[in-house]
Amino acid sequence: LAAAVILVAAGSGQRLGYGMPKAAVPLGGEPILMHALRGIVASGIASQVCVALPAGDQGLRRLCDDFREELADGGPLLTLVDGGSTRADSVRAGIAGLMEGIEAVLVHDAARALTPESVFHRVSDALAAGADAVIPVLPVVDTIKTVSTTAGDSTAVAPEVVTGTARREELRAVQTPQGFTINTLLQAHQAAQAMDQEQAAAVTDDAMLVEVLGTPVYAVRGSTQSLKITTPLDLIFAEGLLEGPLG
Ligand code: C5P
Repeated sequence: LAAAVILVAAGSGQRLGYGMPKAAVPLGGEPILMHALRGIVASGIASQVCVALPAGDQGLRRLCDDFREELADGGPLLTLVDGGSTRADSVRAGIAGLMEGIEAVLVHDAARALTPESVFHRVSDALAAGADAVIPVLPVVDTIKTVSTTAGDSTAVAPEVVTGTARREELRAVQTPQGFTINTLLQAHQAAQAMDQEQAAAVTDDAMLVEVLGTPVYAVRGSTQSLKITTPLDLIFAEGLLEGPLG
């Protein structure tokens, strides 16, 4: 399958607290985005990498332009688009930037910059084997509960009350890259555009849009190295991984 990776890197990175887009935050002396790009290229699964950058960010644009020069002949086509105000908008901008003939798309968070090659391969192998949608997952170690807020209830003794406990054996933590046939991804994101603001705000990954279509979403094994760098603690973990991967 002719595959592309849409790398979404247009987030603000506010939770990391560096006062710059997360993709630009240094990790092991290089911007997070560079690690993400190198990982994708090393996996060899993509003929195109389309990066959604914060609109107007010249620094990250220049970084990508320099990286393009580094790419060997026969490497993927590297294209840049302006991201949007939500992650889904950034993915849609990426879809619009895909070249003709792309049959499969892996949507990947730049924040999961240390994703091992093996995960890209498991996702792309499942697509090649006939899946329309495939996500990398890990078992959950914590017990996960649902809660509802008690804010505004003057009799409440705490800010939240538990409403239920999901069976842990059935739960999975979901990572990226998430892989889709091009038609499945297009349909999923077209459907999403009809959502109201509240529904749109609840969309945290692409697979949930595919689930709504009724298309089966398959799960393959993810990796603890694919952690999503979100908080300062995650950055410490990521720095540690660079010094000695868990294998
Ligand atoms: O903010 P969140 O944790 O959902 O971000 C996940 C990924 O989506 C990050 O790599 C971030 O750069 C990207 N993103 C984006 N455009 C946005 C928001 C997030 O590309 N508007």
